[in-house]
Amino acid sequence: MRAQVVIIGGGPSGLLLGQLLHRAGIEAVVLERKTRDYVLGRVRAGVLETGLVRLMEEAGVVGRLHREGFVHDGTQIAVGGEMFHIDFKALTGTPVIVYGQTEVTRDLYDARAVAGARTEFEVEHVVIHDADTDRPYVTYDQHGDRKRIDCDFIAGCDGFHGVSRQTIPLNVRREYEKTYPFGWLGVLSETPPVHDELIYANSDRGFALCSMRNAHLSRYYIQCALSDHPEDWTDKAFWTELKRRIPAEMAERLETGPAIEKSIAPLRSFVTEPMRWGRLFLCGDAAHIVPPTGAKGLNTAASDVNYLYRGLVRYYQDGDSEGIDRYSEKALLRVWKAERFSWWFSGLLHRYPHQSAFDLKMQQADLAFLRDNESQQRAFAENYVGLPY
Ligand code: APR
Ligand code: PHB
Repeated sequence: MRAQVVIIGGGPSGLLLGQLLHRAGIEAVVLERKTRDYVLGRVRAGVLETGLVRLMEEAGVVGRLHREGFVHDGTQIAVGGEMFHIDFKALTGTPVIVYGQTEVTRDLYDARAVAGARTEFEVEHVVIHDADTDRPYVTYDQHGDRKRIDCDFIAGCDGFHGVSRQTIPLNVRREYEKTYPFGWLGVLSETPPVHDELIYANSDRGFALCSMRNAHLSRYYIQCALSDHPEDWTDKAFWTELKRRIPAEMAERLETGPAIEKSIAPLRSFVTEPMRWGRLFLCGDAAHIVPPTGAKGLNTAASDVNYLYRGLVRYYQDGDSEGIDRYSEKALLRVWKAERFSWWFSGLLHRYPHQSAFDLKMQQADLAFLRDNESQQRAFAENYVGLPY
């Protein structure tokens, strides 16, 4: 069997790339280890940069996003008992769209089905062969059969635990990593959001975030110990702790209810370089991870997809390889800026185990500077709504 591009991984990166390539007349097969329902069962962040929304438009998958997504012109930052507002729209001319990543993925799967594009689910033992030659191919097992697809290019969109990154030899690959000494305990509840904008809170008891999916579905997080387990946290304990970390006025207004999902995510910053090896290109979580503070994961994946998609179109339509040759360099330049923002924003809001009195004063001064200085707010807003591609 043959395809122009084999995409390993049917998460948002692989699906968005697949749909854009399909619209450009480039045939791509998506290989996904799990089932569609499994992929759609994962709860992830829900803030979309305009760049991603534009790519979804280009991919022809934007109808429901425009109908059901919420335009957020700004965000709230809470410090101690007070809140201040950062006005993205006024500072940058651009809002963000609140729309669950699960919904983005669902829309892309639906579009794939309508387009009749090929997706192979429940594939196992995917192996990338000869990526450093002009004739790469991919083998995998599916329902007991061993299969092979010859191709021109391979897009490694298989997330942090996938095979693609591991295929790049260790003497070529360099990895940079930072782990954080805490996690986020997240709860999804069928209650109206406490505020019409997101609230990022720095409190003496640790970080909290009030987010949402729609008018009847809220997503809340609190910083927790890495050793905690979701079952250790009753719903009551979660709501009590959340209320202690947000301004009193918000705590009074907060509507609580049963958690319909409760999970703990560790925080990690990670980048691998280069993002290309021969005819293998890494996209999204396969190449980099950010802590969720600022919701850059999906958005950074989208900017990789943007560069790779344009590079491949240029290659197939004009026979010009400059776009794919410069893929890693261009993608990494933007990736590192998103890494910096997510790391900085995490540092601004969390309590760290060994934070000294001086460190705490620096955090407070950083927050006060953000509250009082328009240039700093503009820099924040530019990063939050997404740096240009
Ligand atoms: N073979 C085939 N598929 C694989 C393999 C493999 N060996 N390993 C992983 N996968 C699949 C996973 O099952 C998953 O569906 O690859 C997909 C990768 O999806 P994500 O982990 O979501 O990564 P990505 O598409 O880059 O998404 C980037 O979205 O999911 C979030 O946290 C992620 O915010 C980040 C953004
Ligand atoms: C979410 O809604 O899940 C969310 C929003 C913003 C973040 C992280 C997560 O920074």
